Amino acid sequence: MKLLQAVFPLWALIGVTRQTNPPGQCVCEFSSSEQMFPHNKLKTVQDEASDCNTKVTPSKTVELQSLLLGLDRRLAQLHEDVSVLEKEDDGDLYGVLSLHVIQNEMTEIRLLLDKLNATTEEHHRLTADTERQMEAVREEMDQLEKFDTQEVVKRQQANQRLRRDLDQCRNGLHPAPPPTKPPHGSCPHGEILNISEPRIYTAGEYPGSYKYGAWGRDPKPEHGKENWYWLVMMTSSNRYAHYVRQYHSLSSLIAGVNVPGNVQIHSSNPTTNTIQGPNVVLYAGALYYNCYNQRQVCRFNLTTKIVTNVELPEGTRYNSKGNFCHLDECYPYTDLDLATDESGVWVIYTTSQDFGNLVLSKLEKSEPPTLGQTWRTSVYKLGVTNTFMACGVLYATRYVSKDMEEIFYSFDTVTGKERFNIGIFMNKMATNIQALNYSPVDQMLHAYSDSYMVSYEVIFDLSGDYF
Ligand SMILES: *[C@@H]1O[C@H](CO)[C@@H](O)[C@H](O)[C@H]1NC(C)=O
Ligand SMILES: *[C@@H]1O[C@H](CO)[C@@H](O)[C@H](O)[C@H]1NC(C)=O
Ligand SMILES: *[C@@H]1O[C@H](CO)[C@@H](O)[C@H](O)[C@H]1NC(C)=O
Repeated sequence: MKLLQAVFPLWALIGVTRQTNPPGQCVCEFSSSEQMFPHNKLKTVQDEASDCNTKVTPSKTVELQSLLLGLDRRLAQLHEDVSVLEKEDDGDLYGVLSLHVIQNEMTEIRLLLDKLNATTEEHHRLTADTERQMEAVREEMDQLEKFDTQEVVKRQQANQRLRRDLDQCRNGLHPAPPPTKPPHGSCPHGEILNISEPRIYTAGEYPGSYKYGAWGRDPKPEHGKENWYWLVMMTSSNRYAHYVRQYHSLSSLIAGVNVPGNVQIHSSNPTTNTIQGPNVVLYAGALYYNCYNQRQVCRFNLTTKIVTNVELPEGTRYNSKGNFCHLDECYPYTDLDLATDESGVWVIYTTSQDFGNLVLSKLEKSEPPTLGQTWRTSVYKLGVTNTFMACGVLYATRYVSKDMEEIFYSFDTVTGKERFNIGIFMNKMATNIQALNYSPVDQMLHAYSDSYMVSYEVIFDLSGDYF
């Protein structure tokens, strides 16, 4: 049985012939004569970008860093996508990666470079050397782009035809194995040891416009949406939101390229399903949030656009009666804080019968969602500015100063142990944090802070004596 194996320069292929062979055999022949995608060039650009990244660090501004990080990741992604396109992969390949993806990526990288350049100019921080490198990166990217339009797009249709043929050929003989699932219910991380300096810091698409909101990554994304980011802004009265904004990569979020766009929940004035309050999360393609004027968590399925809900216990504080606060101010409509971690979705709130202390419940992903196990804590919500979950542990923050927030409290749902002496500090980029959520896909903490989007790396204790 002879199948095409290993490296396979896809766009170099023009002609393919499917032959009639003895039963059980499938032979695909190809002729290759065309120019290869300039991988070495891409590699150079990538090296230059990360070199740039290293060089700039001493004189860093975090904004510049996150742009460079965005660019760095973007190039890596591009490289990966190109490789996938070129190889007949090993069965983990779920579908045809459109060459359009790469075109879009090119455009996006260019936008990112422009933005980076603007930032650079503004800050006057880069050395002449780095400037030269930037210039080189730009030139290379231009060339890559030219290559793209001349070579890639032209071949697109031929490639797709070819791939269809190959898929038919291959699937006829070897049905693709089902994807392996990660082990269920286990959490690879221990206790949180520290939080990094801000890694991502961006004003996004609407600099300074919406003070309240939330953003992040879906921990259990649908296939093909693994790198997507979402953003929900309270566009009316710092209180309501009507849609989920989506970005297909970190760099599109930073560059403010809103592709693939919004998913609207409801068009007009507040109604039952309107998002109320900033502490929302996206999980498995559905947005979980406190809905308008209700003691309820609503779940909006972005695919079907259907909203289902679950009622919280009698006595639960809602409609801005159980908010996160610090000495100077409370954050309106933060009664219900939705959170994600390795195990799913949680809701953190308070009730009259708990005298304003934090209560934590697991949300079960049934249809409609239901309230699972509940834990009661002895931390008073008025002294807490936000909470998040990581590895089954609830963490709470408090306000220290306009530059500093402290993770001071934890509650372990496995052992029931409470700690008030966590003492991990977070450097803030703006005074207030309106939403804070942990992303189990990349162990980042995403904060929405006075309209800025800020991310921190979570550093775990991997010593293993935690469980
Ligand atoms: C940065 O922008 C300036 C003008 O604002 C332009 O002259 C320069 O060529 C740009 N550099 C790069 C690397 O794009
Ligand atoms: C924790 O991280 C901060 C940077 O955010 C760093 O300054 C500090 O030294 C770290 N603390 C420990 C104990 O590692
Ligand atoms: C959303 O609806 C689709 C179609 O019914 C379903 O497959 C998916 O599981 C739903 N997602 C959630 C989170 O309920």
